Amino acid sequence: MKLLITGASGLFGSKLAGIALRKNYVVYSGYSKDQPAFGAAVQFDVSDKTMVEKVFEEINPEVVVHAATLTDVDKCETNKELAWKVNVEGTRNIAEAVKKRRAFLVYISTDYVFNGEKGNYKETDTPDPVNYYALTKLKAEELVQDIADDYCIARGSVIYGASPAAGKINFALWLINKLKGNESPKVLIDQWNSPTLNTNMADMTLEIIERKLTGIYHISGATRISRYDYAKLLAQTFNLNTDLLTPSTLAEFSWSAKRPKDSSLDTSKAQQTLKNKPLQIQQALEQLKKELEGTSETA
Ligand SMILES: NC(=O)c1ccc[n+]([C@@H]2O[C@H](COP(=O)([O-])OP(=O)(O)OC[C@H]3O[C@@H](n4cnc5c(N)ncnc54)[C@H](OP(=O)(O)O)[C@@H]3O)[C@@H](O)[C@H]2O)c1
Repeated sequence: MKLLITGASGLFGSKLAGIALRKNYVVYSGYSKDQPAFGAAVQFDVSDKTMVEKVFEEINPEVVVHAATLTDVDKCETNKELAWKVNVEGTRNIAEAVKKRRAFLVYISTDYVFNGEKGNYKETDTPDPVNYYALTKLKAEELVQDIADDYCIARGSVIYGASPAAGKINFALWLINKLKGNESPKVLIDQWNSPTLNTNMADMTLEIIERKLTGIYHISGATRISRYDYAKLLAQTFNLNTDLLTPSTLAEFSWSAKRPKDSSLDTSKAQQTLKNKPLQIQQALEQLKKELEGTSETA
């Protein structure tokens, strides 16, 4: 199957590309700056409609996973024009090209579409973004629903994984490095979400593709947890000193973009539907450990 992944140099897309290749997909890896590690690299800016049409004409993909996004939440707040161009207009271009080619589209979205006041959000709950990044992701979801014929919207939450990607390290690697260096990282006690191991999310996405599941799915990790408790479990899993963790609160940080307090996702629909289940946090951290040690096949 011909699969085009946008954002294939990113934290999620790079793992998806690697796993899809091993499952014998023909993988085209879209990126804008950072060369993807897996698949046939295709450089194009999703916000450039002409480029998008040219790429679709050349590849004629059967399935498209659209993960390319300006993910820097604070940058989206301070550069709204760019955020809209990439996240909203980019998605419009992809959705229109998908429709024209009658391909299947999986749009990767986020727990941040919710306002974070209640947590444990189901697919049927009403989004209510509290920052500009989240607003662009919600607008993009709406465009996918309006334009595409065959689509799935798959939402993750605080993605982490064994390798840096797109020039960044993720929270799990950052925390492990800090603790190994005997530093005392500040970790939030008043923010909850559903940390998502990128390989688990990639496996669920491939099942969505294989079974052509449509609609909205929450494919995050299965556990609602505070950032502090997540950090503590990470430290314990890697035999690091939990005493170094410094509890802090949202009010102590002066970010440009507001963060939802509890954007955790209810994954029961994915649990009931998929064979590849959302992992509980402890299972996922054991899996991360294997991947970092190079003893896992999914690494
Ligand atoms: N990270 C999280 O915690 C998290 C949580 C929930 C949902 N999500 C969602 O999951 C998806 C993947 O996130 P991620 O963390 O894997 O992203 P990431 O590591 O920040 O990577 C972003 C990707 O998007 C590409 N990209 C950015 N602007 C582009 C443009 N104009 N044209 C083409 N490609 C462009 C980047 O390519 P270059 O590097 O080559 O520019 C990179 O491959 C996103 O939809 C995000 O909203 C992420």
